[in-house]
Amino acid sequence: AEGLKGRDFLVLADFTAAELAHLLDLAAQLKALQKEGRPFAPLAGKTLAMIFEKPSTRTRVSFEVGMAQLGGQALFLSRSDLQLGRGETIGDTARVLSRYVDAIMIRAYSHRHVVELARAATVPVINGLTDFAHPCQALADLLTLREAFGRLKGLKLAYVGDGNNVAHSLIVGAAKMGLDVAVATPEQYAPHPAVMETARACAAEAGGSVTWTTDPAAAVSGAHAVYTDVWASMGQEDEAEARKAIFAPYQVNADLMAKADPQAVFLHCLPAHRGEEVTDEVIDGPQSVVFDQAENRLHVQKAILVALLGA
Ligand code: CP
Ligand code: NVA
Repeated sequence: AEGLKGRDFLVLADFTAAELAHLLDLAAQLKALQKEGRPFAPLAGKTLAMIFEKPSTRTRVSFEVGMAQLGGQALFLSRSDLQLGRGETIGDTARVLSRYVDAIMIRAYSHRHVVELARAATVPVINGLTDFAHPCQALADLLTLREAFGRLKGLKLAYVGDGNNVAHSLIVGAAKMGLDVAVATPEQYAPHPAVMETARACAAEAGGSVTWTTDPAAAVSGAHAVYTDVWASMGQEDEAEARKAIFAPYQVNADLMAKADPQAVFLHCLPAHRGEEVTDEVIDGPQSVVFDQAENRLHVQKAILVALLGA
């Protein structure tokens, strides 16, 4: 798929199934090159600005290491250290950074702010997680599933827990690639209706399906993959105690995993709150592929950078 050069990477809905498949193929190639120890440095002289409004381990390190491996460099910019933290507008920040760097990655609370940044920037903007979406994570998850099963189409993926940012991108990405997606959340924590509508349209086109229920056992039944995320996301710390009670029936434990396909894998974007959304037994068990997911952040983000920067 040509036509990725110069684009933003904000939500997976903006990309066709063919474009996502191309990014997965490119990520697999870059992963193989790195495993063989063969240097590939098409981004020599290029710089990525990384704006962080929230903490990060995987996103920060994988983008920074990814740029270094591709021959370029990354700048870590925390919001509070930028003039953005003192009231300079997002638009002006975007226009200024665009004069210095070749791409901008941003992790922000508000998805609207990221869209605003992308509109004003003249270089590609990559979403490193907002309150609405986490597209880099979902692409890494799809690569992980493709590696585990050798295919994506026809797999049943169960997402259990909070219908949050991670869920949104996963549901849309999986629907685009023809998976059967079964979502189980408490009634009032369902994914955004617009996301479900988009995902259902994508699934219809790809030959998959998207369903929602409040019953985790029903969603997990026969699934090839069971995915969960924290019950309280960054910025929701004051709701954590209330959420623990609401989400308790949605814990991914050995009993719930036993309802999935015997070959099923367990996925989690990390960081995990062990003992809450997942037990140690499951996340440390033989079905867990969570560290493959974390590693694959590096490979898919390198593919995104190469594709958007047209290297
Ligand atoms: N999964 C993920 O995005 O992790 P970080 O918050 O550590 O970047
Ligand atoms: N849903 C989590 C994901 C962290 C990578 C959060 O937003 O905090």
